[in-house]
Amino acid sequence: MNEKLINKENLPKHIAIIMDGNGRWAKSKGKLRIFGHENGTKSVREVVEASAEIGIENLTLYAFSTENWKRPKLEVDTLMKLLVSSLRKELHTLVDNDIRLNAIGKLDALPEKAHQELLEVIQKTRNNKRMTLTLALSYGSREEIKNAVKQLASKVKNNLMSLDDIDDTVINKHLYTHDLPDVDLLIRTSGEHRISNFLLWQIAYAELYFTEVLWPDFKKEHLFQAIENYQNRERRFGKTSEQLN
Ligand code: FPP
Repeated sequence: MNEKLINKENLPKHIAIIMDGNGRWAKSKGKLRIFGHENGTKSVREVVEASAEIGIENLTLYAFSTENWKRPKLEVDTLMKLLVSSLRKELHTLVDNDIRLNAIGKLDALPEKAHQELLEVIQKTRNNKRMTLTLALSYGSREEIKNAVKQLASKVKNNLMSLDDIDDTVINKHLYTHDLPDVDLLIRTSGEHRISNFLLWQIAYAELYFTEVLWPDFKKEHLFQAIENYQNRERRFGKTSEQLN
């Protein structure tokens, strides 16, 4: 798949990816699951660079869900270590490419070291403009929505807001993703056809793209394939084809 086949006038503004299949990739090679995660970081790097290069403004990666804490301790510890080492290693890539790092999720649930490293890179890249890279960490969409509902209920209860003020825009403002546009294209690798509690509100009108490719094998050309596929779809947002034309 060639980058030239992509129409730069019709890029998704926000791509979100459920990076799945690291474990199966490692198993198929007779290795431990953590070997899959290590190689998954190479795909993260490649996809981040390719996205910035072609002009994607927002890329959101599901790196760790609230449910992932239930995995074996060795695997959780490795994922947290990979997060810290990747943040350290890639800070200069983010700076050089004018990429802002952002994070969504229950960040204070992360180990102290990972949390601090993350905040530091977010701080150091906060004025970058080319692309926002959001890592979903200890993220769960229902929890995000529950938090928003609680904040809104409390504001109404304390007369800071009336019930009629609550519309889509106000709800958006109370989500972790308050400064991001809706997702246009959601990609899930490894042949699973599930959303797994990822950005439930934000994907209301997203195009969904599923590929059999396992995450450590997902490279630039697979991203371009997904974007080309997206560009061949008609997004109607509830209207008819005729109304769009
Ligand atoms: C899913 O594969 C992947 C994850 C739970 C973690 C994704 C993490 C990385 C790609 C590396 C670290 C990320 C950053 C941003 C540094 P799986 O383990 O569920 O695979 P399986 O379904 O084959 O078991």
